[in-house]
Amino acid sequence: MKHSIPTLHVMRYMGNKQKLLPQIISAVEKHAPPGSIIVDLMAGTHAVGYSLKSQYRIYANDVQKYTLPIGKALLCSDGISVSSEKAKCDLEAFYEENQEKRIANFFQQHYSDTYLSARQCAELDSIRYAIERYREDLPNPDRSDLYLTALISTVCNAQSTPGHFAQFLPPNHQRTQPLRQIRLWSQFLRYADKLGIHQTPSLHPLLLPIEKGSDFRDMLTDQEWSGNANRVFAHSWREFFERKDILEEASEFGLIYVDPPYSQEQYSRFYHFLETLVLLDQPQTRFKARYREGRFMSDFCYRGRVASEFDALLRTTSTVCCCPVLISYGSKGLLPKDRLLEICQRHYEIVQLEEIPYAHSTLGKGNVPDVLELLLSCSRPKNVRASSRHTELQLSRDDQRTA
Ligand SMILES: C[S@@+](CC[C@H](N)C(=O)[O-])C[C@H]1O[C@@H](n2cnc3c(N)ncnc32)[C@H](O)[C@@H]1O
Repeated sequence: MKHSIPTLHVMRYMGNKQKLLPQIISAVEKHAPPGSIIVDLMAGTHAVGYSLKSQYRIYANDVQKYTLPIGKALLCSDGISVSSEKAKCDLEAFYEENQEKRIANFFQQHYSDTYLSARQCAELDSIRYAIERYREDLPNPDRSDLYLTALISTVCNAQSTPGHFAQFLPPNHQRTQPLRQIRLWSQFLRYADKLGIHQTPSLHPLLLPIEKGSDFRDMLTDQEWSGNANRVFAHSWREFFERKDILEEASEFGLIYVDPPYSQEQYSRFYHFLETLVLLDQPQTRFKARYREGRFMSDFCYRGRVASEFDALLRTTSTVCCCPVLISYGSKGLLPKDRLLEICQRHYEIVQLEEIPYAHSTLGKGNVPDVLELLLSCSRPKNVRASSRHTELQLSRDDQRTA
């Protein structure tokens, strides 16, 4: 490795690739020319895109909407800084207004004494209210995604849970009491400082190929964003490859990195609280853990569907793109290694497998020993092109299935 790896830790996240970055970066560097577009198709905390953005352009996507502000903050916010001082100046008056008048109180009403205490929920409502007011009041609310990311870090740090939001610890649990003492506003200000200090720049804009139109700071829709020539999306992988602009650019991609779920745990269940925090859509909640209704169910999390999901994904990438695909998967994942290899070989002529010893965190259930991280690179001989840039994909929309 020629250079140190830029990292910015936002939250503990099931399956995050922070510790595997050296191997992932080496594999990407081996296959993709510098400056080309790397698609991080299931980007989660954006750890991979962040570590690559000084060498490549990043198109990052994930079906969960809470990943969007994190991606915007980590990949598209060069030249925008935050600090506790700026946060106080931008947000404190709105925060105090809500603390006093309780204009926004959804989290206090629905989550008091679950993942956070009633006081912490009230603080959360007020910080979220302040970010929204700041966003509404400005024509170009540059810092709001950095603030939302700092708030996600704050909540994840204060949650009294095993490390995710599928369940909360009982009030008398020895870990609950110290967590309940955390003041969210002070913690939030500390995370604003941390984000400001640790931001590293993207590939220098002057080194980039000329863009269509001006992509800097262009808000497109609430499911995508573009800045610093990086782009962030919140789609299922199928929807991502149904986009006309993506199909038009797909033959230019340098590499697609695929890091799907490998267990039956649905991310929409583990992180439902963050989805509601970002969407602010006041959903109906269900069960003791107060899950959102209508959450996305990924087919990678079903033993009976994961093989056909991989097959559909690789059929799509091999049809619309000519670049290599790099896949991360756990050796004890729902799909056995041999079947995964067989599916890769069905769609790509050259398939290479690297096996990396790696203790996966299961968030609360301890580390699983003897697990390998599989890193599969799938490519074609150099002269083979994707069948067409504008292939009409007949993708089934059965990933829209909801709980
Ligand atoms: C193993 S995690 C990715 C971790 C990420 N590389 C990181 O370092 O933070 C898997 C991700 O896949 C996403 N996901 C699951 N099914 C998906 C689908 N059908 N389309 C897009 N994203 C999906 C989940 O929301 C989750 O963030």
